[in-house]
Amino acid sequence: MISHHELRDVALECVANVTSSIDIQSVNERRTDFEMKSSSSDYVTSLDRHIELETVQFIRKNRANDGILGEEGAATSGTSGIRWIIDPIDGTSNFVYGIPYFSISIAIEVAGDVVAGVVADLSSNDIFDAVKDHGSRCNNEIIRVNNNDSLQSAIVTTGFSYRRERREVQGSILQYILPRVGDIRRFGSAALDLCWLAAGRADAFYEEGLNLWDYAAGSLIVSEAGGTVRIKNLTRGINLLTATNAHLDKEFQILLGNSLQH
Ligand code: IPD
Ligand code: CA
Ligand code: CA
Repeated sequence: MISHHELRDVALECVANVTSSIDIQSVNERRTDFEMKSSSSDYVTSLDRHIELETVQFIRKNRANDGILGEEGAATSGTSGIRWIIDPIDGTSNFVYGIPYFSISIAIEVAGDVVAGVVADLSSNDIFDAVKDHGSRCNNEIIRVNNNDSLQSAIVTTGFSYRRERREVQGSILQYILPRVGDIRRFGSAALDLCWLAAGRADAFYEEGLNLWDYAAGSLIVSEAGGTVRIKNLTRGINLLTATNAHLDKEFQILLGNSLQH
């Protein structure tokens, strides 16, 4: 039986393999080679497709019996009880606009539980990883969430979905939260937002309506760095992920709870 550390190492090797397959020359052409998905700001580029294909090929070669779920359509059920969850580019609109904040996210589930995750920032070369019960790292160095215990001074990262009707709910949550925290950032990659929280570069994160591939790896990286992650399915179809450093969970839950009643 393969260990969780070995699975993490396969994911790290996969990321190294896939990034080396990206020809720098073609990256600029790929930025403009996109199609719209669910809305006029939801893009898929040929680089998303290239990364997903290379990742799937690597997994099939090295882990033939594992299941795969990829944002751009990869779906294999597998027979081993292990499943790979892939977001080939998290932050595609940043990539299209040349904003340096987009990543590959790979999580590995065993029997439905995420046990390892890797998020690689494609623009800075930071590579975050975690193994369940064994901590989180950035470029092989152990990372921890920060110690800020004041919501009034907290930097809170968030994001918004592409669908207009969801944005109305998201806008009303934000309107309530904004005057009650230190400040808000919307960087554009939920997977990296979670990793930055894990590394102490933000104090809390929340987003409504994320998909599994956006948060599966990043959530493990936060909890293994000492943070708290919660996913709640609420009324009106609201699906809220919250993540905080070691101190802010209780206060943040109250704040978000109040924002939904507002
Ligand atoms: C998006 C990013 C963004 C978040 C959106 C996601 P994509 O993923 O994570 O930060 O706010 O909800 O859909 O489309 O770039 O893979
Ligand atoms: Ca995503
Ligand atoms: Ca994506």
